[in-house]
Amino acid sequence: MSTATSAQNSAGVQQQAPNGSGLQPGWGVAPERQQAIAKVLGGLVPPAGRLAPAQLRAVTSGLAARRGLWADLVVRDPDVRWYLPLHRSNSCDVWLLAWERGQDTDWHDHGGSSGSFAVAEGCLVEQYRGAGGRRIARRRLLAGEAVAFGPAHVHDVAHGGGGSATSIHAYSPPLMAMTYYTATDYGLIAKQTVAVDGPEGARGRGGAGTALAAASASAAGLTSDALPADAPSIDELLAEARGGLARLRPEAAFAVLTDGAVLVDIRPSEQRMTEGEVPGAIIIGRNVLEWRLDPRSEARIPALARPDARIIVMCSEGYASTLAAASLRRIGLHEATDLDGGFQAWQAAGLPTRPAHPSG
Ligand SMILES: [Fe+2]
Repeated sequence: MSTATSAQNSAGVQQQAPNGSGLQPGWGVAPERQQAIAKVLGGLVPPAGRLAPAQLRAVTSGLAARRGLWADLVVRDPDVRWYLPLHRSNSCDVWLLAWERGQDTDWHDHGGSSGSFAVAEGCLVEQYRGAGGRRIARRRLLAGEAVAFGPAHVHDVAHGGGGSATSIHAYSPPLMAMTYYTATDYGLIAKQTVAVDGPEGARGRGGAGTALAAASASAAGLTSDALPADAPSIDELLAEARGGLARLRPEAAFAVLTDGAVLVDIRPSEQRMTEGEVPGAIIIGRNVLEWRLDPRSEARIPALARPDARIIVMCSEGYASTLAAASLRRIGLHEATDLDGGFQAWQAAGLPTRPAHPSG
């Protein structure tokens, strides 16, 4: 199929482009076919709950071996990877994918879902993050072979050469979001999380009916009238927080750091790896910041969790750090403030930085 708005495959099932009306309820698969697929899955897929990777492998392998259920549905598209949802329940979703030479997914995870795919025709190559998170492994999968993986799996799947390939994929819980990664010398660095409207890269066809697609459609209809009257916007919240802070530009921060203040870096590790670090900064994740710095907290860092601690919170650009500093002031650290402009302003001012090191 080309990029035309619609086409028919050999089974006569109308396929529509994603920017049109999309696949209709039933996802373009005739009801009789859906019933036949559901019958095969009946003994393999519980109506609710999370499937283990081995159960998902049974699903993908079982369907891949039953060509009569999907072979006449496949559309070969040289431009984009084609896909068709075959089944969806509260516990898992199942997809049919077609691959042509040169097509691949880029590095991605599955938003916390476990998964499996079985090669039904042709050959696929999977690169994946190995044990320990640093080593990249590679495996070549031929027709009849399947892999299964848990929620932490990160991989890049590609057409493996030769003729067209076809595969069956299953995920549990059903896919809702995926994060894409860039391969670097430090390993895989997360770069973007996207809502999912299709499997394995979301760049094929089909995809109506995912839970997040439904949520997005619902959210598009919301207006500010639906919010409580006294709820501040994020801009108002930020302005309010800044009203109570004497924020420091990088040069001023550098001066007070030499006089006993502490720079606390709250950026996520992926950002530190990409941007670099400030020598001497204390790294405390935003998600644990208050628990580390509240003098009453059992998880506090004793040397820093003091009412008079001169904490300067740093993020990348100086927005999240403001809210974090305001939160610290609320729990009693009355000297807390943040770095105006964040790491990026610090670096632009020519102040000391260094490459970040992986934390393992
Ligand atoms: Fe994947």
